[in-house]
Amino acid sequence: MPDKPRLLPLLMPNHKGGRSSITCQYRCGNACSHEAPNTSDNQYFGDVVADIVNRRKVLKAGAVIAVAGAAATTVGTVGVGSAAATPAGHGHGGGNTGLDFEAVAPNDLDAIVTPPGYEQGVVIRWGDPVVPGAPRFDFAHQTAAAQAKQFGFNNDFCGLVPVPGRRDKWLMVSNHEYTTESAMFYGYDANNPTREQAEIAWAAHGLSVVLVEEGRRGGLEAKVDRHYNRRITLTTPFTVQGPAAGSKYLKTTADPTGRRILGTQNNCAGGVTPWGTVLSGEENFNQYLANADSVADPVAKARNARYGIVGGDTLRTSERYDNRFDLAKEPNEANRFGWIVEIDPLDPTSTPVKHTALGRFKHEGANVIVARDGHVVAYMGDDERFDYMYKFVTDGKYKPGNSRYARDHNKTLLDSGTLYVAKFTGDSPATEIDGSGTVPADGEFDGAGEWLPLAHNNTSFVPGFTAEEVYVFTRLAADVVGPTKMDRPEDVEPSLRSGRIYAALTNNTDRGKPGKEGPTEINPRPGNKHGHVLEIEESRRGHTGTTFSWRLLLLCGDPASPDTYFAGYDKSQVSPISCPDNVAFDSKGNLWISTDGNALSHNDGLFAVPVEGRERGHVKQFLTVPDGAETCGPVVTDDFVLVSVQHPGELEGASADNPLSHWPDGGTSQPRPAVVAVWRKRR
Ligand code: FEO
Ligand code: CA
Ligand code: CA
Repeated sequence: MPDKPRLLPLLMPNHKGGRSSITCQYRCGNACSHEAPNTSDNQYFGDVVADIVNRRKVLKAGAVIAVAGAAATTVGTVGVGSAAATPAGHGHGGGNTGLDFEAVAPNDLDAIVTPPGYEQGVVIRWGDPVVPGAPRFDFAHQTAAAQAKQFGFNNDFCGLVPVPGRRDKWLMVSNHEYTTESAMFYGYDANNPTREQAEIAWAAHGLSVVLVEEGRRGGLEAKVDRHYNRRITLTTPFTVQGPAAGSKYLKTTADPTGRRILGTQNNCAGGVTPWGTVLSGEENFNQYLANADSVADPVAKARNARYGIVGGDTLRTSERYDNRFDLAKEPNEANRFGWIVEIDPLDPTSTPVKHTALGRFKHEGANVIVARDGHVVAYMGDDERFDYMYKFVTDGKYKPGNSRYARDHNKTLLDSGTLYVAKFTGDSPATEIDGSGTVPADGEFDGAGEWLPLAHNNTSFVPGFTAEEVYVFTRLAADVVGPTKMDRPEDVEPSLRSGRIYAALTNNTDRGKPGKEGPTEINPRPGNKHGHVLEIEESRRGHTGTTFSWRLLLLCGDPASPDTYFAGYDKSQVSPISCPDNVAFDSKGNLWISTDGNALSHNDGLFAVPVEGRERGHVKQFLTVPDGAETCGPVVTDDFVLVSVQHPGELEGASADNPLSHWPDGGTSQPRPAVVAVWRKRR
């Protein structure tokens, strides 16, 4: 039992930015209210290690050539999701960009607002049946057994994997990031959740695989398919693969092998691979682990603290019902989350995998591209204030095609390779990075960068760390080599058209606070409320190389504010945008950005922005989601756009007993997270 009453969301201290305190509490365990876990002064160590590893010469900005040609690093992609786009143009006129829709104005409506001429429809919502035998959703009488067959709560990432041989059918894979128990159950007592409520929440986490097909009127329809549909929950067995499989740091009473882990949690963003699997990031897993304060080993305690794993009982108190969530009893359970997981929706009997080679941190997600030489490169962000960006280069090469042989091979690619962390250097004088957001005299926030190697299979490049320790305690290993502290790196995704990589840096209101790093050219605003979008161009060696150039595409916020920047585009013509989170691309190469926690006091939305030509920087809002919701998991095809509508109505004071949204079903209904399709009206 907790020794003091847990604060109800209503009573939480004021949250920061545009997120409700309920979201802060349930989604990331009030991460922003705690000290950022990266207290390292990594610069000094970086200088030392740079000598040790014989630092590579950083290319000067402007000396790095562009990846040649639209498809230079692109291979045939089987997926559509945040990692892929369809091959044809967007197809709706509007000049070269195809973005001819009328921008949606900021609003606070309890609705999805789209441009004129577009229609919308819910594809699937929390509680809808996923597998055969799923009972009809009954809000007042939920059971864990029912939830394990139904669509989970708070869907975030969404990706489409085509069903082989069918142009109109896909497997839609959704992450269920977290549960908001106060919105899920009438009369929820946060101090005394029942076992059934805990088990419902475990079943509401994880992922769903749902067969979808194009509807007759447009959009997508979900099917309860006997063969493909699948729920993965917090109790589904996963296999551990890669260099840390079987590590002593992963062994527990229930799993003395360190190779079999039950479930996945707090799955945030993700990506579809060219071989038709889905990668998903385990993000704020720290909040599910109790009694870190009672861990006796001071080294383990310090390692936990670097991941924000601190304190006593957890918000959801799952430790009362399963010892594995109690670190005083199972200290290694902490190390069994924070991985990139891979799901193969095309093989419904396959065991999902946790990939240790991609390191352990608060993984936002992973998106891959096949480099010119066939190696696969995954780009990743660690979503925490002052944490880092990473990439992984596989040893093996991608085998094209959908044959069993090719797929089996490709599914091993992420088991061996080199893990890197990013260091960025600005090219303008420090005096010009004055925190005002004013563009430096050379015309851009830009510079050069370097991928610092951390480990290659059983070889560590980090002094004082074994390779096993680099993989399991990646944040601590990275601290040693001096990477750049970023403003919450979320989605990091390569454009399959240009090969450039785009990263959403959501915000960091702590930048520049006393004792914290101040503005740098790549994170140029102190108290960064609105976030920015970064563009990376790998060197002429391509995606497997270790140097790159970079520039900021957007400094988000109110276009009327002098500290915002829209790639030099006329700011009187753009939509206000705040807190970029997920990114995706359409078939024309335009960047689509969804937002989380709009700090401009309006609803979150989905935005499109060209990244080439005269329209570069012309941000337009394509849709807004209901009040209290976050826009996630955009998928953009030539025929429809999919968005995940996460936590609708999650506003101050909201609960199941006091719903502040009735989306999507209207009337007096409870709000339900859902996937929504938007498409152009057919004439
Ligand atoms: Fe779950 Fe980083 O957002
Ligand atoms: Ca510059
Ligand atoms: Ca996110």
